[in-house]
Amino acid sequence: MNLKGRDFLKLLDFTDKEILHLIDVAEKLKYKKRNGIKHQYLKGKQIALLFAKDSTRTRCAFEVGAKDLGMEASYIGPTGSQMGKKESIADTARVLSRMYDALEYRGFDQEIVENLAKYSSVPVFNGLTTEFHPTQMLADVMTIKEEFGKIKGIKLVFFGDARNNVANSLMVVSSKLGMHFTCCSPKELFPDKALVDECMKIAKASGGTITLSSDVKESATNADVIYTDVWLSMGEDESLWEKRIKLLKPYQVNKDVFDLAKKKAIFLHCLPSFHDTDTEIGKQIFEKFGLKEMEVSNDVFEGPASRVFEEAENRLHTIKAVMLETLKK
Ligand code: CP
Ligand code: NVA
Repeated sequence: MNLKGRDFLKLLDFTDKEILHLIDVAEKLKYKKRNGIKHQYLKGKQIALLFAKDSTRTRCAFEVGAKDLGMEASYIGPTGSQMGKKESIADTARVLSRMYDALEYRGFDQEIVENLAKYSSVPVFNGLTTEFHPTQMLADVMTIKEEFGKIKGIKLVFFGDARNNVANSLMVVSSKLGMHFTCCSPKELFPDKALVDECMKIAKASGGTITLSSDVKESATNADVIYTDVWLSMGEDESLWEKRIKLLKPYQVNKDVFDLAKKKAIFLHCLPSFHDTDTEIGKQIFEKFGLKEMEVSNDVFEGPASRVFEEAENRLHTIKAVMLETLKK
């Protein structure tokens, strides 16, 4: 398997074998990390991390991962660089690829990261756009594999805003790897039809299925994995909260919903999550709308089936796998 020099922009660009290979590499890197086995496979290389939106996991996974691999990383935040305001994406890509060995971008339209890659002479990685969150998927699939020992045939149900980056990417990865994916949300928030059609075609070949539903009980029944994400994504206007809460409250993952899943089912969430009022936004929502928990109830989040922190740790190992496989000598 040779992924040298490849961009990592969306999973639609990768075969099932390539995705599974990245998970295998991540498992080996996790073993090494856990056992204190040092390696500097990418010693001397440099990566620029361009973040137009906030991040904890993705940023830290790239920074710690780069260090573990012997690399150095420069963080370039939403302000302070010329990108976008005074300098085009094309010019930025051509400048940075003369200095760095790889670029990571988190921000808005998928078109921006695709454009960066078009003009960059070094690999570009998508750390989340409005449409897709491909590095998140590797961690999710790795967590599923660790739990169930397999990926194919797993029933994964996503509750919430099914048009967002995480839901879109779950649909893509499920179709590629032969999982049974259901997105459960109100019709207004169903994913884009063209993407659904494309995933259905891919799923046919892999043995997976794609289901769109607004029926919470039917969707949750017999699920292996229940997944949810925030009801309002970064970059969306705060004024949408009221409408989104109204639309998505019936799709909250709580104990009643979780109990319909299989006995050994697990709960996943890309994080960050509003499962209590211990955040600024969580408090504001409570004061304004009286809701103490949003997309997931605190008992499910903190419950025995929750694997959210294993999933978060796996962001590190999988992002390291992407850097290693695309940048190795
Ligand atoms: N899941 C995820 O991408 O988290 P961050 O926004 O903290 O990077
Ligand atoms: N859908 C969320 C994912 C965060 C990791 C967002 O884009 O804000």
